Amino acid sequence: MTHFPYLNGQLHVENVPVARMAEEVGTPFYCYSTAAITDHYQAYVSALQDLDAKVYYSLKANSNQAVVATLARLGAGGDVVSLGEMYRALKAGIPADKIVFAGVGKTRDELAEALKAGIHQINVESESELDTLSEVAKSLGKQAVIALRINPDIDAKTHAKISTGKSENKFGIDIDHAAQIYSRAARLPGIRVAGISCHIGSQLTDLTPYRAAFSRIAELVTSLRRAGLPVERVDLGGGIGIAYRNEQTIDLKDYAAAVREIIAPLGCAIELEPGRSIVGNAGLLITRVINVKSGVSRKFVILDAAMNDLIRPTLYDAYHDIIPVMQPSNDDPVSRVDIVGPVCETGDRFAEQRAMSPLQAGDLVAICSAGAYGAVMASTYNTRLPPAEVLVKGDAFQVVRPRPTYDAIIGQDSVPSWL
Ligand code: LLP
Repeated sequence: MTHFPYLNGQLHVENVPVARMAEEVGTPFYCYSTAAITDHYQAYVSALQDLDAKVYYSLKANSNQAVVATLARLGAGGDVVSLGEMYRALKAGIPADKIVFAGVGKTRDELAEALKAGIHQINVESESELDTLSEVAKSLGKQAVIALRINPDIDAKTHAKISTGKSENKFGIDIDHAAQIYSRAARLPGIRVAGISCHIGSQLTDLTPYRAAFSRIAELVTSLRRAGLPVERVDLGGGIGIAYRNEQTIDLKDYAAAVREIIAPLGCAIELEPGRSIVGNAGLLITRVINVKSGVSRKFVILDAAMNDLIRPTLYDAYHDIIPVMQPSNDDPVSRVDIVGPVCETGDRFAEQRAMSPLQAGDLVAICSAGAYGAVMASTYNTRLPPAEVLVKGDAFQVVRPRPTYDAIIGQDSVPSWL
């Protein structure tokens, strides 16, 4: 939180007072720190600097053009999972030859567009996708450069909804069949097998599952090579988990040491697709208290942000720190409150029985660690306007996505003339 200091009793993003932005932009809005994004990206670069490793920022975490452009200028590549994300990456200045296309269900059109754009790599997740890609590539007279995504059947020990490397998950090719499919892929027209990819899940806070997955990848690469197959790249998937509440997570240096020990000896180009660890702790969701309501058994702080703005607490029971924008004093009494949004669902709750200093209607609060999987997962549920987004750099701030108008949202529907 170094880039989110309290200065003169007020929360700032870098040098900009949050209250000033709230005045100009209105609430709720997401606010990102350029310095934090830069630090988090550079931390990967420096931890891995002695290795042949490259960071492909995972756009799904936050695909705002301003955020992606910030990373593009630092030299990051992009990991995309849809055509929309590919267009965003290209538009924000990530060149095609630094784009990796992953995802369990790519359509023919998506594969064709990716090939026409000439992207760096397509991560293939099934034998049938391989056949489709071969056909599409052949028909376009192109060669698809692929990594085969394997499923190593390893428990990532993260939330079940974001665990992806167990055999019962839909992702990747079961590791026991990977060699056979890789060898078939190498003979398919329109396909050039470049390597192996693997992603066992998101928000991992323990290195052990990573080490296990790396070992399985290393064994596979060795056996593929023994069979005479070329393996020039290994894509290790998403990045490390972040601290949402000061919890212990993986130290990037330890992660890099595991890569150095288990993967680097293979002599492959190493690819990483971190998202959350670059932008998660670089963003806040700023919201205002609408009302404080005393129920029979609980006190509710009702915010003007809701589950449509940040769905993580509702969807994953995720914990996010919530802090007042005006710095509380140490003498302030603390009481337990439920912090909720105005949406008509009980699950529209950011925190349950959270110890907070006194809050009243009109106060601003910041929901922390909201830079990843926040704005990108927002919706217009309850016909609420999605939040605005703001980027800060030093003393400067700018709205990088305005809140749409009600007319823009409602005007997307049309009523058939025959009704
Ligand atoms: N690569 C692949 C193939 C992925 O599926 C993911 C995340 C990433 C990279 C980036 O992982 P990261 O570095 O961000 O952990 N909405 C959920 C997270 C979903 C993650 C999906 N895949 C959340 O809010 O926790």
